[in-house]
Amino acid sequence: MCGIFGYVNYLVERKRIDIVHTLLDGLQRLEYRGYDSAGLAIDGDKPNEVLLFKEVGKVAALRQLYDSSNTDGDKTFVSHVGIAHTRWATHGEPSPLNAHPHTSGPLNEFVVVHNGIITNYREIKSLLESKGFKFETETDTECIAKLAKYVYDLNKHRDLDFTELAKLVLVELQGSYGLLLKSIYYPHEIIATRKGSPLLIGVKTEKKLKVDFVDVEFPDFPDISVEPASNFNDSLLVPGAPDLRRSQSRAFVSEDGIPMQSEFFLASDPSAVVEHTKKVLYLEDDDIAHIYDGELHIHRMRREEGLPTFRSIQTLEMELNEIMKGNFDHFMQKEIFEQPESIVNTMRGRVDFEKKTVNLGGLKAYLNTIRRCRRIIMIACGTSYHSCMATRAIFEELTEIPIAVELASDFLDRRSPVFRDDVCIFVSQSGETADTMLALQYCTERGALTVGIVNCVGSSISRQTNCGVHINAGPEIGVASTKAYTSQYVALVMVALSLSDDRISKRARREAIIDGLSKISAQIQEALLLNDSIHMMAETDLVNQKSLLILGRGYQHATAMEGALKIKEISYMHSEGVLAGELKHGVIALVDENLPIIFLATHDSLFPKVMSAVEQVIARAGNPIIICNKGESALSKLHKTYRTLQVPATIDCLQGLLNVVPLQLMAYWLAVRKGFDVDFPRNLAKAVTVE
Ligand code: G6P
Repeated sequence: MCGIFGYVNYLVERKRIDIVHTLLDGLQRLEYRGYDSAGLAIDGDKPNEVLLFKEVGKVAALRQLYDSSNTDGDKTFVSHVGIAHTRWATHGEPSPLNAHPHTSGPLNEFVVVHNGIITNYREIKSLLESKGFKFETETDTECIAKLAKYVYDLNKHRDLDFTELAKLVLVELQGSYGLLLKSIYYPHEIIATRKGSPLLIGVKTEKKLKVDFVDVEFPDFPDISVEPASNFNDSLLVPGAPDLRRSQSRAFVSEDGIPMQSEFFLASDPSAVVEHTKKVLYLEDDDIAHIYDGELHIHRMRREEGLPTFRSIQTLEMELNEIMKGNFDHFMQKEIFEQPESIVNTMRGRVDFEKKTVNLGGLKAYLNTIRRCRRIIMIACGTSYHSCMATRAIFEELTEIPIAVELASDFLDRRSPVFRDDVCIFVSQSGETADTMLALQYCTERGALTVGIVNCVGSSISRQTNCGVHINAGPEIGVASTKAYTSQYVALVMVALSLSDDRISKRARREAIIDGLSKISAQIQEALLLNDSIHMMAETDLVNQKSLLILGRGYQHATAMEGALKIKEISYMHSEGVLAGELKHGVIALVDENLPIIFLATHDSLFPKVMSAVEQVIARAGNPIIICNKGESALSKLHKTYRTLQVPATIDCLQGLLNVVPLQLMAYWLAVRKGFDVDFPRNLAKAVTVE
């Protein structure tokens, strides 16, 4: 999805080429989100000049465009604001014109980069066109830059500061946004704001910050136009005198009174910031951050009861090496092999393997409420949805509460009834998926308790739910989700264990699961030893196939769905996850000697039924590949030798954590063999922030 990166240096002398590289490197860190064009805006050689560079394709192409532009890279800037963007086309095809930054006109007086969608852009556009503005692009974003210019011109005589101008613009925008605004009229200043789209600000100062928070500032003139204008006439004029008072941000006050050198890194994702600084401030919806004179100020349109009046400057937990490939060829490969470790991080400090207890700090205060609920609805998309499917049965068994599992889009399409005594669990790696976010809003409006199971700290879902659990899998860069899946799975099992820890009758079962969890990391490591044989199998047997089926039942239905999704996503091979019990009701018609059919036939109470499905396939000359437990004796009874992939055995409800590993590896090697871009599969985005 779209990515935003901005860089502000104040009293820190930087060559233009270094500024451009900082911006391009920032964009490169956001590449994993998926995009189809990129662009940046920097100051020109003359005062009041802004240069735009925009290109279709990868950030590398934008780098080339800049390199071939003969721009003087040695020019130095003591203070400067640069903004950059990777775009995933929604309104208008990928083209240099449609790429961001968008501009107010030929002089680039205002330039903007934007994530999200301005839903009323057509209205804004036609009104601005009636005022003589010429639109060049098919995007919704262009209207923001042009509106800023219009508001500026209208209020020229008033000497508005950048915040006041931004307020007048923002109040007209409907939809969602994370955006950066730069202007020749406010040199070395930047506006950053968000509504429903993430944005954070990394802070790097020469001296230690005086306090680790930034006060929220409210308007002195509450009558300043904070209601949208019904049309763009005089209502966009500031009534009364503008607020010319410039406050001081306490964090940035230097003791000796000498202005403090500072750098700010603004991004839609912490992975673009971590290499520069670990001090970050996450903006809240409707915050308007204004950076000038080396200070960061947070403004809001109006004072709201009960909301914090400061924003903390936090320390990022993320390490740079977490977002580097290291010795691996692809992020996805690295993330598959990280699972023995990421799963431990999910459980760290939460599962006591000796006392056999689970303690989830983020849920503790809500456990009793959840236990009393009428039902639990798990809501998610894609891989996250599969983690809900994978753990539904153990939730039902341990909690004895009815559990519904919903795809967010379908749940919303049906306007499914939700009540105050429902608990809704939202599972999301990114915490930003639009469908899941909308479902969260829908359930919040209906008074349900909302729980987030999220990987990205500071993401919208983790902030807007009542309580939750961070899965702590670390940054997942590969678009195809792997380690987040296994960590979501474990996190959900931990939630089920916590909810049932008041039930004596479930104690033995709980303890057996916790024992299983204590060994799972080493067992994933063992399952990863299948890497070479799966590589070979992908190269020789599978690569030329057009289609592939994966069959499982019970706990393994989710594994079959997840394995098939992985294969589709990155190897573009048609694959289907099928409930083994449904084989005879239609799918069996596909069986012939060619179609590869993978069975998830590990040992649990449904094993005999899965084996009977294997027999049915063999009886029709099919040639299955069987994922089974090590040394499975039942298989030797089969009259023919079939290919097997043997994984360690664990307790039934955790077996999916091991069975999914060979399928992840299979998807990976198929994509590598076919020469596809494993980490950036076509048409897919890491976080789908549009409906
Ligand atoms: C996108 C990604 C999938 C992911 C799904 C849900 O479609 O390509 O890999 O599973 O979104 O994402 P979330 O961040 O909510 O888990």
